[in-house]
Formats: sequence, C-alpha cells, structure tokens
Amino acid sequence: MRPTPPPQTYRVKSFGCQMNVYDGERMAELLATQGIRPAADGEDADLVVLNTCHIREKAAEKVYSDIGRLRREDGSAPLIAVAGCVAQAEGEEIMARAPSVSMVVGPQAYHRLPEMIEQAALGQRSVDTDMPAQTKFDVLPARRKVGPSAFLTVQEGCDKFCTYCVVPYTRGAEISRPFNDLVEEARRLAEAGAREITLLGQNVNAWRDDSNRGLEKLVEVLAAIPGLARIRYTTSHPNDMTEGLIEAHRDIPQLMPFLHLPVQAGNDRVLKAMNRSHTVDSYLRIIDRVRAARPDIALSGDFIVGFPGETDAEFEDTLKLVDRVGYAQCFSFKYSPRPGTPAADMADQVPMAVMDERLQRLQAALNASQLAFNQASLGKRCTVLVERKGKHDGQWLGKSPWLQSVHFTADAAIGDLVEVELVEAGPNSLSGRLIG
Ligand code: SAH
Ligand code: SF4
Ligand code: F3S
Repeated sequence: MRPTPPPQTYRVKSFGCQMNVYDGERMAELLATQGIRPAADGEDADLVVLNTCHIREKAAEKVYSDIGRLRREDGSAPLIAVAGCVAQAEGEEIMARAPSVSMVVGPQAYHRLPEMIEQAALGQRSVDTDMPAQTKFDVLPARRKVGPSAFLTVQEGCDKFCTYCVVPYTRGAEISRPFNDLVEEARRLAEAGAREITLLGQNVNAWRDDSNRGLEKLVEVLAAIPGLARIRYTTSHPNDMTEGLIEAHRDIPQLMPFLHLPVQAGNDRVLKAMNRSHTVDSYLRIIDRVRAARPDIALSGDFIVGFPGETDAEFEDTLKLVDRVGYAQCFSFKYSPRPGTPAADMADQVPMAVMDERLQRLQAALNASQLAFNQASLGKRCTVLVERKGKHDGQWLGKSPWLQSVHFTADAAIGDLVEVELVEAGPNSLSGRLIG
C-alpha cells in the first residue's frame, strides 16, 4: 500500500440489521471528531466504511462487488475500511482477496478506526477483530444530533446458537451494557432531539444489569426522561419474554404496542432442528399473555423457509401459525447455508425451486395478514410521530404506535406528535386525518 494523505471526507454505508445502523452512526460521529467531514451527496469520499452484514450468502458476496465498484474512473480508489459482521467473520480472507482494502475492523473494535486511519495514511494495512465486551462504549464520543426516532444498542451478542445462524460467531457472547450508561445515553439522545428511542440487541429482551434488573426496569426509567414520548425494543427471543416485560406493555404508556418476536417456523420438529428451544405451543402461549396485557399489540416476526429437511407438510404448519397469530408485519427469508454453522452440513438441503415456491406462498399469507391488520385499524385515533416530508405539498409521513407508516396533510414539522384518525388503509401504509 502506498502512503496517502489523511482523509478529509468520509462515507459510511451500513447493511444488515438496525444494530449495524447504530454502529454506523457511532462510527460517523467518531470520524467527525477526527476532523473528517461527511461527503456531500454525489461527492467522492476520501474514506469509505462498508459496514457489512453476514447473515445470508448474498449479503457477504455483495461486499466484494461493492469494493470493486469503489474504484474510480482514473483507476484510483478511496481509503476503504470493511467493518461489521463480514469483517468479523472473514477478516483475513478480505485482506487476501481485496488488496484495495486498507482496514478491516469488527463490530467490537471500531473505536480503533482513528489509529487505523493513521496507519493507512502511512501505507500500512490493519485488521482488528478483537472482541472486548464494553471497551468501545467507554471511548466513543457522546451522541450529537439525531432525528426524532433514534436507536440505542443496549445488548450485544447471542448465546442461543440457532443452527442456521452466524450471529453468535460474528457478534460474540451476550453482553448487557450497564444501566447508568444507557440512561445517560438516552438522556443525551432526548436532548439531541429524539422523541422515540428503539432499544436494540440481537436478543434485546435478554438484557439484565448486575443486580438482575430486566429490560422492563430500564424502560420504566427511560419513560421518565423529559421529551421522550415513545420507547420500542427489538429483537426479542421467545425464551427471554419475561412476565415483567409483558406487564410493562400493560403499565407503561410510553412503551409502544408493538412486539417483534421471531418464531422462524411453525413446526416443532423443524424448531428443534433449528435449536430454537421454544415450541409452537410455548410461542402461542406467550402471544396470548402479551395480548392479555395489551390487547391492541401489533405482532411481528421473522421466518425461514426451506430449513434442511423441511417437508411440504412441515411448511404448511408455518402457514397455519401465520393464520393463528395474525401478524401486523413480518420478514421472511429463504434458508441460506452459512459456513461454520451446524445446519450447513445437514443432509436434505431443500432445492432452491422449492424454497422459492414456499417463500412466495408465505409472503402472500403475510401480506394478506398485514393488510387485514391495517384495515382493522380504520377509524382508530392515534398519535403519529412525524419523521419526514411526503411527496405532495403539506404532506407528512410518520409512524403510528403500531409502527404503521401513516401519511397525512397538515401544518406540522419533523419531530411533532400529531393526533390523527386513520381513514384509509393499504398493504404498506395508511392515511390519516388530522383531529382538531
Ligand atoms: N436475534 C434475532 C435476529 C437474528 S438475524 C432472532 O433470533 O430472531 C434476523 C433474521 O435473519 C433471523 O430472525 C432469521 O429469520 C434470519 N436468518 C438468520 N440466519 C439465517 C440463514 N442462515 N438463512 C436465512 N435466514 C436467516
Ligand atoms: Fe441468531 Fe438465533 Fe441468536 Fe437470533 S437467537 S441471533 S437467530 S442464533
Ligand atoms: Fe447482519 Fe451482523 Fe446484524 S450478520 S443482521 S449485521 S448482527
């Protein structure tokens, strides 16, 4: 690598889950404290951070094509840092396969970017995929300006080891950030303009502090922060859904009536092979308890079709579960074998054509469920947190308490909480009429 002048401008591109979005924001804040400014739209950045995701095959392949596309017409390239879960999983391989990459930095080590950039300017390539649990949070700069809806990572890593999943390997063991640090960061986010905070974790409901207080305690304290009107959390694991957290949905008005609780499949044999450690029945019992605590709660989930060995009849069980739960919105994926995970070596991998067909049928069922949920909201009155301008003059877009996109026309501003009545419902959004 040839020495290069220190970068003046940066661009951070985040892929994958919301935790990566959060990390991307924190990297951007860190670069800003180094005197590097964000590149303007259309401007070539001196430094590009690709904050990558490893969850499915296409996600990782995309990184290499993105690296290739960063080469400019004159043959030069920006300084490139690969961060995120592909960096963690394939650090050395990236260094070998992509000579234009100067820095590889894992999700627990990105606070070291400034030193790595200095080394890169001297022409030295560096890799850091160490996993000290809390260090980065202790040294990252405080949060600055944020939008009305902000993310706050409270928990990282996963000990569940579902047989298809790379997260326990890329993000390491489950750790919870300390109570006081989180309250402090939430306070700063509220001061910086956040009206809503979404607490994030690969298993967010596994969050505990040293005195064994659970997520509901954190939610209770955050709910008292001035200016903070809404709290959400994602992603939860069925096995960590405690009675205390369920009751918080009944007792804490700032906790929004929305729960993302992935089930993955609707058949017990498949769930066992996935090492999910819940059954269809135990999942449905949780849903019943949540609905008893908060009858209007919107439910969401993740599904995988074509897990190795899944038969047609077992897949039909997933459709039955979708029917029984009545989800408000969901994500669904074709199974993707990940190197190093137990499922990748299982016999009976399901052919792609079968997975395609199953995904189509599942998505049709999920779309119908989502439309039904939206239609059932017609006539309801609710608040909308205004997030951005709509296409038309005077039109605004925001989210309902149930995380539906709502557009309406009014004299409003980003960050306002306005009262609307929901008057029209489509599959992906609703229209609201201002009240009063
Ligand atoms: N911790 C969360 C989410 C993890 S990743 C949970 O346990 O639910 C987000 C989603 O990606 C998962 O819920 C799962 O549906 C999907 N996913 C994970 N690994 C996958 C794989 N190998 N192939 C297809 N989908 C996968
Ligand atoms: Fe992956 Fe399972 Fe952990 Fe979720 S709970 S991150 S799917 S191993
Ligand atoms: Fe992807 Fe890593 Fe998130 S693999 S989904 S970016 S935890």
